[in-house]
Amino acid sequence: MHLYPLVRPLAFALDAETAHRATIAALKLLPARRAPDFPASLHSTVAGLEFPSPVGLAAGFDKDAEVPEQMLSLGFGFVEVGTVTPRPQAGNAKPRLFRLAEDKAVINRMGFNNRGQPAAYARLIECRHRHGVIGVNIGANKDSEDRIADYAAGVRAMSAVAKYLTINVSSPNTPGLRQLQDEGALRALLSAVSEVREKKGPPIFLKVAPDLGEGEPDQIVRAAIQHGVDAIIVANTTVSRPALKSRHAGESGGLSGAPLKPLALKALRDFRSALGGEIPLIGVGGISTADEAWERIRAGASLVQLYTAMVYEGPGIARRIALGLAERLKREGFANIAEAVGSG
Ligand SMILES: Cc1cc2nc3c(=O)[nH]c(=O)nc-3n(C[C@H](O)[C@H](O)[C@H](O)COP(=O)(O)O)c2cc1C
Repeated sequence: MHLYPLVRPLAFALDAETAHRATIAALKLLPARRAPDFPASLHSTVAGLEFPSPVGLAAGFDKDAEVPEQMLSLGFGFVEVGTVTPRPQAGNAKPRLFRLAEDKAVINRMGFNNRGQPAAYARLIECRHRHGVIGVNIGANKDSEDRIADYAAGVRAMSAVAKYLTINVSSPNTPGLRQLQDEGALRALLSAVSEVREKKGPPIFLKVAPDLGEGEPDQIVRAAIQHGVDAIIVANTTVSRPALKSRHAGESGGLSGAPLKPLALKALRDFRSALGGEIPLIGVGGISTADEAWERIRAGASLVQLYTAMVYEGPGIARRIALGLAERLKREGFANIAEAVGSG
């Protein structure tokens, strides 16, 4: 059943973005299958949504919502599509995606290439009534004159087809976007979002960068609590460059995968202490094993996500990690994953 070791050399012979397109094209051909069952100990409710497994696919793999159901059927407990912007945009010049195999890492400066929210909406409406948690990550167009208005437009456009919405203010590849994390700008953004969100609409998550300064998590948390944010996703890629071996180490963009792990874990801990449990956290960045997912859950994450490890290990990684978590729960005497959150 482990096909990925056979496929990987073929995929790695292609440049990273061509391999990604080929992967999406192949996934589209997968027959519709029911998502696998997970042990009851892994089921949990977060932000009012029921998750069959806490291991999700992070944003950026399925930017245009082409294969969310296939990813659920391959063993992800939830899938976040996007980032989608109101209007389609091409993104940055190629090459813009680099595998750093020696470092088990990726650098990307894609720049929100996507076909726009109406196209994603048309695909997602097809899976709207099915089981499975499909979240939609929204952003602003690079040439937008009013970025805050773009987020409000995204909430309006995508609420009907999203189990949750993620406000992404942490991509390093749209110049100036991350300044929306500054307290004043973030408050303006979140209040614009709360004005347009409907009472019965999907929960709103906020995705933050791992490169925040002293005191910033506290400011973000205060704004998030005040404006009714339902969960915080920690973290996006980093613009910092820990020691790397690969020849692509000097490329600009966001770094993900193994070298991001210590930073993402520290950021999660900072947010947990700033929050005091008030809003659930989702841990992402450099997770590739059940032990690493477990560490994130013990550090306060109710759910985890991954992307880069799947490039190196194949999609079976989601189910392997989930079953590894179920074993750890049993071994340590927890009846359910929710009991283990923040226990470390
Ligand atoms: C090629 C690539 C594209 C990404 N695109 C997005 C994106 O559009 N929106 C977003 O919020 N995060 C994006 N991310 C960040 C991931 O969702 C995740 O936060 C980050 O990669 C850390 O997790 P990982 O180490 O498991 O990959 C992207 C990551 C990669 C590698």
